[in-house]
Order: sequence, then structure tokens, then C-alpha cells
Amino acid sequence: MRTPVGIVGAGPAGLLLSHLLALRGIESVIVELRSRAYCEARQRAGVLEQGSADLLRAAGLGTRLDAEGLEHGGIYLQFDGERHHLDFRDLAGGRSVTVYAQTEVVKDLIASRLADGANLEFEVSGTAVADLDTGRPLLRYTAADGTRRELACDAIAGCDGFHGICRPAIPDRLRTVWERGYPYAWLGILAEAPPATDELIYARHPDGFALHSMRNLQTSKLYLQVEPDTRAEDWPEARIWQALQERFALPGWAVKEGPALDIAVTPMRSFVSAPMRYGRLFLAGDAAHIVPPTGAKGLNLAIADVTVLADALTELLLRGDHRLADAYSDTCLSRVWRSTHFSWWMTTMLHRTPGADPMEAALQLSQLRYVTTSRAASVTLAENYVGYPPLR
Ligand code: FAD
Ligand code: DHB
Repeated sequence: MRTPVGIVGAGPAGLLLSHLLALRGIESVIVELRSRAYCEARQRAGVLEQGSADLLRAAGLGTRLDAEGLEHGGIYLQFDGERHHLDFRDLAGGRSVTVYAQTEVVKDLIASRLADGANLEFEVSGTAVADLDTGRPLLRYTAADGTRRELACDAIAGCDGFHGICRPAIPDRLRTVWERGYPYAWLGILAEAPPATDELIYARHPDGFALHSMRNLQTSKLYLQVEPDTRAEDWPEARIWQALQERFALPGWAVKEGPALDIAVTPMRSFVSAPMRYGRLFLAGDAAHIVPPTGAKGLNLAIADVTVLADALTELLLRGDHRLADAYSDTCLSRVWRSTHFSWWMTTMLHRTPGADPMEAALQLSQLRYVTTSRAASVTLAENYVGYPPLR
């Protein structure tokens, strides 16, 4: 069998790439390890940069986003017992972010792809790629019905996340990896409780970081910094709410509590693998890079990568022009490194490092006071948070 573009992974990167290619008349096949229900329920990110939301709208995916997404014009930073507001519309040229969960982006994309008759195969196994340095790379997999298939492609997109098979298919000697671990993790709780805040609160507390986010006006998403080897079972709901109330404490204000819908622990890591292209294999999203979640960049980077890739593959496959494909990796890595730095900066400014000396806390507090009092510093945070450089 043949297809112009073989796509490995039906996360946001793979699904959106397939959609953007279809808009340009290029067919693709997506192969995905998991079931549709699993992909649609996987709890992850919640914030879209202005450019990501605009791109989804321009691609015809804005109906539910506009009806159900919550536009946020800023965030709160809390430290030293005080809560400060950063007004992004004022600081970042009128730009804002939209709270719309990754689960909803994925549901919209899957529904739209299937309605368009796309070839989307769930529950495949044994995915493998070969002949990547030729003009006819191969994508092999076993379909859900047990049939082994081989697709001859013009290009393959590795959108298979951090644990996928595509990045390791690039020879080690051709890859450079930058990696940093953090000595903490996040415990996230999705709760049936109205958010107690109109915009997200990022809080630095001597016990550790806490984040108050939301999914809609009935559902809150909150996170706590915990030890890296934490098991969710060690945190019964009562303990989670107590820690959240302590870390967000302000006179006359309390987190609204409610039954947990999901509780999970997320490790923290910065990771970049370059180049993002090998022959006719193009990596996009978490397959090539991971950021710690502070700053909400992971999903937005995946969207930015495939926006660049859709243009590059269109030029390559429809016009035989390889210039954008040749520039793909460098174009993406420039944004990836900006987000990698921003996420590292937000993370280290707001988390308690176990065993750190008192100097660290004093430096963090000084930085937070600077960010909340200097226009230059608050513009820096705001323009990175809403998305820098703006997605074209
Ligand atoms: P993914 O969403 O990982 O999709 C990859 C897909 O490929 C998956 O569906 C997977 O099943 C499939 N796949 C893997 N291997 C194969 C194979 N061999 N064959 C076929 N298919 C395969 N970001 C934020 O901004 N804020 C957050 O709060 C946040 N929380 C997160 C929590 C967790 C637990 C994780 C893992 C990530 C989180 N992120 C968060 C990051 C964000 O969700 C990711 O950056 C985003 O999902 C990247 O999209 P992607 O399409 O590149 O990868
Ligand atoms: C969410 C996650 C983040 O990492 C973040 O910085 C903001 C919001 C969320 O899941 O809603």
C-alpha cells in the first residue's frame, strides 16, 4: 500500500498534521497504539497560546473551542503571602490565552478527521519505520485485526511522543540530546468543583509549588509539587485538599473542594533531541522535545511544530521544493529552545528544591518581586506565556 504521508501517533501533533495536510489536498494515514477512547480521555495540558487557538480556528476547528474555551487575559503569581495579577492584554500587545483542555482538542480533531474520511487506525502494534534515508520510507504495523501491513510513503512524521519508536530510528551518531531532570514531580487533581479563581494562580510556597487551573466553570484542575517518586495512592483526597489550602492560603479566600475525577503524578523533565529530521523522517511534538509543565508549553510546541511541518511537506510533495523541509528542524528548534528556557525559568523560580540553601529562596523571591513590579520583567513573562515568537 502507498500513502503520501505516514503519521505515527494520534496525539495532538499527529492528528493536527493530518488535518492541515488534508486542507492542502495531501492524504495521510495515522497509526496509533491506543484506542480512540484512551486518546480522548488522557488527561494532560489545558492552556492554548493565542497563536495555537487562532491556528485551530483558521483550520476550521474553532466551533467548540469558541463555545466552551475560556479566554484568560492574565495569570496570578502568589508568593510571600501575597497574590499579584499580570495583565497579558496590557503587557503582550492585546494577546491572551485560552483554557481549553487537550482532551477536547483531541476529541475535536478525531471527530473532524473521521468525518472527512481520514485513514486513522487505532490499537495497532509492532510499529516500525525503515528506509528513512531513501525517497520511499516504509511504515510497518500490525492492524487491530492482526494483519501485518506495510505502507510505502513519501515522508513519515514521527508524532509518537517521548516513548515512541521514531526518535530512536535516527542513528545515535547523528543526534545530539540535551536533558535535565528536576528533583520533584507534580501531583495533579481534576475535581468536580467550580474554580475559586477567574484566572490561573501559580503559587510559590515554602512547602512547594502549587497551581490552580481549570477545565471549565464546573471543573477545577489543581497541581502540587511532590517528591519525584510519589505514588498517587500516598495522597488521599483529604491530604491533597489540605496541602492545596495551605499553599494558596490568603485571608478570606479558599480553594473550592469537590470529588476527584482523576489524580495522577507527572514527572518533570527538560529534553531536546536534534536534529528533528533524518532523511524523510520528521519528528514533531514530544517525540523530539519535552518541557516541564510550568508555563503550559508542551501542547503549544506540538501545534507549532506541525504547523511548520505541514507547510514544509506541502512544498516538498506537491512542488518538489525541499527548502522548507531542509529548514524544518532549525525553524522548530528556535521556538523549542525559547520554550525550553521559559519553562525551566518558571519552574526554577516557583519550586522548592529539596536540600537547597536559604540563598535559593531569597533569589527566587527577589526574581518574583521583580517580575511583579518591573514592566520590563512582566512583559518578558507575558510575551513568553502567550507565545513567543507569535505563531504565523
Ligand atoms: P502525545 O500526546 O504523547 O501523543 C503521542 C501519541 O503517539 C500517543 O497517542 C501515543 O499513544 C502514540 N504512540 C506512541 N508510540 C507509538 C507507536 N509505537 N506506534 C503508534 N503510536 C504510538 N503539557 C502542558 O502544557 N501542561 C500540562 O499540564 C501537561 N501535563 C502533562 C501530563 C503528562 C502525564 C504528560 C505525559 C504530558 C503533559 N503535558 C503537559 C505535555 C503535553 O500534553 C504534550 O506536550 C503533548 O501531549 C504533546 O503532544 P504529541 O502529540 O507530541 O504527543
Ligand atoms: C495547566 C497545566 C500547566 O502546566 C500550566 O502551566 C497551566 C495549566 C493545566 O493543566 O490546566
